[in-house]
Amino acid sequence: MKNSDLAKTLIKQNEKLFLCPKCNKNIRVINGKSLVCKSKHCFDISKTGYINFLLNSVDTHYDKKLFESRNKVCKQGVFDQMITKITSLVDTYYLKDCKESSINILDVGCGEGSHLANTIEALKNKYTMNFRGLGIDIEKEAIKIASREYGDIIWCVADLAKIPFMSKQFDIVFNIFTPSNYSQFNRILKKDGILIKVIPNSNYLVELRNIFYDDTDKQKYSNEKVIKHFSDNLRIIEQDNILYTVELDRENLERIIQMTPLSWEVSSEKIQKALDMKIDSITIDLCFIVGTLR
Ligand SMILES: C[S@@+](CC[C@H](N)C(=O)[O-])C[C@H]1O[C@@H](n2cnc3c(N)ncnc32)[C@H](O)[C@@H]1O
Repeated sequence: MKNSDLAKTLIKQNEKLFLCPKCNKNIRVINGKSLVCKSKHCFDISKTGYINFLLNSVDTHYDKKLFESRNKVCKQGVFDQMITKITSLVDTYYLKDCKESSINILDVGCGEGSHLANTIEALKNKYTMNFRGLGIDIEKEAIKIASREYGDIIWCVADLAKIPFMSKQFDIVFNIFTPSNYSQFNRILKKDGILIKVIPNSNYLVELRNIFYDDTDKQKYSNEKVIKHFSDNLRIIEQDNILYTVELDRENLERIIQMTPLSWEVSSEKIQKALDMKIDSITIDLCFIVGTLR
């Protein structure tokens, strides 16, 4: 089945999950091509099968090249250990004793979609439950790639401040290297649902940070405030770290530079310096926080 047809089928099957971000009313699929709410706000399903729920256009630093590089970096396995860790957290803190036959997983700020798709793939290898994956991101270019690459997930362009889904529908929510909105997370999680947030630790991509931010206050990064904000809003049931290095050839180094917001506002001289230094491995230093409703 073509990705767009698969998406239309999935969207129809799950139409009860959707909420109109303009008026907060229910949405129904009409003629297999559009989602229309009771106030007649209409959101079309795109040619590749995603839905655009954005109410206003946004202007950010993120672009198509960044997401394409992120997609290639994921395919090279740079984040495989992160996926293994997320999968084991889902296993320990949700699925192990779970009696549900169907599990809704939402990735908020999913980017080009690889993390959600790879995690669901890993979960399907272990469990027989039906995993329903949904991903939202504010950037259309990211969601275009996600919908092209991973047809069995529902993809939406949407703002995490106005998540277009009904309340208390999600067993598991991911929030990976992405801003948070805890009032929305509190609204959409099921009573016993979990949120898994992944944030960089101070040595994440440290080889680049040292070159780009040499002798500035950005050379050192601390995630303390992010963790405090999480604990102010959800109950932390687990916090853990992983640290590993990945070997790189020049092509992958270029992609890592292209995929990371660390490169924004860095001079082309410094980018060239990083390339010339022939960095042959890069550090992935991550913190995982698992939370539940209070
Ligand atoms: C560093 S990227 C991480 C993307 C993806 N989670 C990954 O790890 O590859 C941050 C993502 O957050 C998204 N984002 C930023 N603000 C957002 C918002 N208000 N609503 C939804 N997504 C947002 C960006 O478009 C971007 O894709």
